[in-house]
Amino acid sequence: MEGPFRIEDIIKEEKLRNIFNQVFDHRAVEAIHKLANDGFIDCLEHIISTGKEAHVYRAVDKAGNARAVKIYKIETSYFKNMRAYIEGDLRFKHIGHDKQDIIYQWTRKEYKNLEKFTEAEVRVPMPYAFNLNVLVMEFIGNKEAAPLLKEAPIDDLDFLYSNLVEQLAKMIYKAKLVHADLSEYNILNFHNEPVIIDCGQAVLLSHPNAKEFFERDLQNLANYFTKQGLEKTPEEMKADIKALKGKV
Ligand SMILES: Nc1ncnc2c1ncn2[C@@H]1O[C@H](COP(=O)(O)OP(=O)(O)OP(=O)(O)O)[C@@H](O)[C@H]1O
Ligand SMILES: [Mg+2]
Repeated sequence: MEGPFRIEDIIKEEKLRNIFNQVFDHRAVEAIHKLANDGFIDCLEHIISTGKEAHVYRAVDKAGNARAVKIYKIETSYFKNMRAYIEGDLRFKHIGHDKQDIIYQWTRKEYKNLEKFTEAEVRVPMPYAFNLNVLVMEFIGNKEAAPLLKEAPIDDLDFLYSNLVEQLAKMIYKAKLVHADLSEYNILNFHNEPVIIDCGQAVLLSHPNAKEFFERDLQNLANYFTKQGLEKTPEEMKADIKALKGKV
C-alpha cells in the first residue's frame, strides 16, 4: 500500500464504514493499517456478526483469500468478566486494569488459544495475525459464513458426538486448554462438520476454574445432544473423552 493510509481503501462501502466508525476508534484503524501493510487484510467486505463484544467481518487478504476479521469493542460491558478468564492464566500475568489493555490482551489470548488448538489438530479457524483488538483468521464458509450448529443441526448425531468427543480430548490432552464457552452457539456447521469458534475465553488446565468451566461445557453439549434426540449425560461424555487419553 502506498501513500497515506485511508480506511476508505479497506472499507469501500459507505454504510459499512459508518458502522465501523461508530464503534471503533483511531487505534483500531491503526491496527487494521498495520495488518493491511503486512498483507493480512486487503478489504473488509461485509459484517458477519455484530455482537456485544465484537464485530466479525468477512474480509480478503492481499492474495485474495477469504478471511474472518474479528474486532473487539473496547467499550464492552463484559470486560470485568474477561478478567476472570485472564487472571489465573500463567501466560498472562501482567494484566492491567485499563479496559483497552484488557481487550488487547484478550485478542492476543484468542490468537494464542487458536494457535494451540490448531497445533493440537482441534478444528478451529486457523489464526493468521492479530494487532491490538483486531484478529485475522480463516474464514469458515464459502460465499456466506457457515451457519451456527444452533441454526443448522448436523444430521448424523452419532458422527457429531464422536467428532466432538475427539475434539474435546484433543483440547484437554494435547492443547491442555478448556474452551469454557462451548455450546451450539459457538460451533459452526461447515459442510456437516463441526468447527469450534470463539476461543478467547479458553483457559489452561491449571486455571483455578478450569474444572468448573469444563463441567459447564460438557453440560451444555449433553443438553444439546439430548434435545436433538441423542440422550447424553456430562458423565458419559467425560468417560468417553477419558477413554481417548493417550490415543489422540
Ligand atoms: N472464522 C469465522 N468464520 C466465519 N464466521 C465466523 C468466524 N468467526 C466468527 N464467525 C461468526 O461471527 C459470530 C460471532 O463470532 P464469535 O462467536 O467468535 O464472537 P462472540 O464473542 O460470540 O461475539 P458476541 O458474543 O459479541 O456476539 C459467530 O457466531 C459466527 O457466525
Ligand atoms: Mg460466540
